[in-house]
Amino acid sequence: MRIRKALFPVAGLGTRFLPATKASPKEMLPVVDKPLIQYAVQEALSAGAEELIFITGRSKNAIMDHFDKAYELEAELEARGKSDMLKVVQEILPPHATCIFIRQAEALGLGHAVACGRAAIGNEDFAVILADDLIKGESATCMEQMRRVYEEFGASVIAVQEVAPEEIHRYGVVEIKPISEGLGEVTGIVEKPSAEEAPSNWAVVGRYILTPHVLDILEATDPGAGGEIQLTDAIAEALKQQTVLAMRFDGKRYDCGSKLGYLQANVELALSHPEFGAQFANYLRDLPLPEPEPESSAESA
Ligand code: G1P
Repeated sequence: MRIRKALFPVAGLGTRFLPATKASPKEMLPVVDKPLIQYAVQEALSAGAEELIFITGRSKNAIMDHFDKAYELEAELEARGKSDMLKVVQEILPPHATCIFIRQAEALGLGHAVACGRAAIGNEDFAVILADDLIKGESATCMEQMRRVYEEFGASVIAVQEVAPEEIHRYGVVEIKPISEGLGEVTGIVEKPSAEEAPSNWAVVGRYILTPHVLDILEATDPGAGGEIQLTDAIAEALKQQTVLAMRFDGKRYDCGSKLGYLQANVELALSHPEFGAQFANYLRDLPLPEPEPESSAESA
């Protein structure tokens, strides 16, 4: 059992980041010195994925270019003797990785985006990574931790995180039968419930290892929460026939779909950057910070 294929839904409009995302994809927003999508791809590669399937939309060509060979740039860097930068550019993807780009013509929801990958996924188990959720793994990347669980139990795996009651309505939420510390069997899953209706406070973060059975189900899945075809609804249906595990990951997740989470990711990853982390820490320490104000909930809407 191996996960060779990873799917990245990248067709979203990124309206929360306008005007930054007017002409360039939100997945290309940099966190320190790499675009969000590169973190997601590296995480998939760390778990052994070799076939990277991007479900794209209009105005997403920059993602394709980012993972393509850039002959002119490479020639220019070579001519100027900038071998360090040349290496950085050439190592974005290892030689054994291949990219497949599929257009999602209409933004009908995450479930629909995943279903668009059908032809590329075929009959294999596969990973799904949402680039908005940037996860800094503790001992291993989140997907690597999930791969180990998948290989041990031979079942689908979803990464989960405990969230505060006021955040629950933003997530898919699981009901779990505990197996061991940090691992449980999913007995129910619901998309964006209210805090009162939610079966627990364990929220799904954007990492899944799924079977192709979910793709069959998605073909007949009606729009759900928010009028969108939800991956969560297809997983709920799949539960009737197969085991799905929920894994609490070791590490920290940054919700880079929100401005605050994106800023936090930038600050924290900059602080641990080998080249200038210490300098940046000194800079932050010397900043005259304004008095704390009561937190605004504008971002959590
Ligand atoms: C999606 C999923 C949701 C999950 C979330 C994680 O929601 O539908 O189940 O909890 O990603 O980020 P979205 O953020 O696209 O509304």
